[in-house]
Amino acid sequence: MASDGVPAHKKFKAMETEMFQFQNGENITCIYHPTGTRKLYIHYGITSRFRMAMEKKSWKDSYTELQRLVLPPDTNIFNDLYGGRLVEWIDNVAAIVAAKHSRRRTVTGSIDSLFFLSPIHMGDIVHLTGRINYVTRSTMEIEVDVYSEEGLTGEKSFTTTCFLTYVAINQDSRPTEVPGLILETDDEIQRFKQGESRSVARHQNLLEAKKKLTDFSR
Ligand SMILES: CC(C)(COP(=O)(O)OP(=O)(O)OC[C@H]1O[C@@H](n2cnc3c(N)ncnc32)[C@H](O)[C@@H]1OP(=O)(O)O)[C@@H](O)C(=O)NCCC(=O)NCCS
Repeated sequence: MASDGVPAHKKFKAMETEMFQFQNGENITCIYHPTGTRKLYIHYGITSRFRMAMEKKSWKDSYTELQRLVLPPDTNIFNDLYGGRLVEWIDNVAAIVAAKHSRRRTVTGSIDSLFFLSPIHMGDIVHLTGRINYVTRSTMEIEVDVYSEEGLTGEKSFTTTCFLTYVAINQDSRPTEVPGLILETDDEIQRFKQGESRSVARHQNLLEAKKKLTDFSR
């Protein structure tokens, strides 16, 4: 019994609730307490258990820049950067973004098609930037942009843009929740929508890939 004599469960009934639904499957229930405070609960579907809403984050909280000098061990027999090395650096930048956004263990789920549009030579400086565009319950879409800079002249060439999906996992290696993304500017909203479209296409490809997983284990 509370000090004002009203049992806690009766107070709860007097509270007002409001629910917001988002396209990424996220539902937010807002419970207004009679005292004027409010609490946000996030859930996915009506049957899942409520949990306190994770605080959303800005893409700026995890934005990452990396520069690498292309050295002999990074090159192929033509003294150009080996493609596999660039993929490693791309994955590395994206892993940092995923870690900073989620503060969870994360794994690379997928890398969308990757086009190398201009060669990178030994001695060039490679610039990579990673930013998060889109999130679902447990996944993060991270965009990595790459360009190279000629060491002696400073001339810059665009190399590629690619999108990676990282999945946050718990101690049992099962997908777990990540914070949502703050969407304030038109650019942030646009990127989120584009990420959502790519995610739909990716889901389709994932279903195809998972069929092979089932066939393999038969
Ligand atoms: C990623 C992994 C944890 C997903 O497990 P799962 O049982 O398939 O997960 P679920 O089916 O519950 O899917 C959870 C979410 O992740 C997404 N997802 C799962 N596998 C994915 C993949 N390979 N790529 C992109 N997204 C993926 C699902 O679409 C789903 O997204 P949603 O929240 O938008 O609905 C699991 O496949 C794994 O451990 N893969 C190996 C990852 C790894 O080792 N990477 C390093 C390179 S080998």
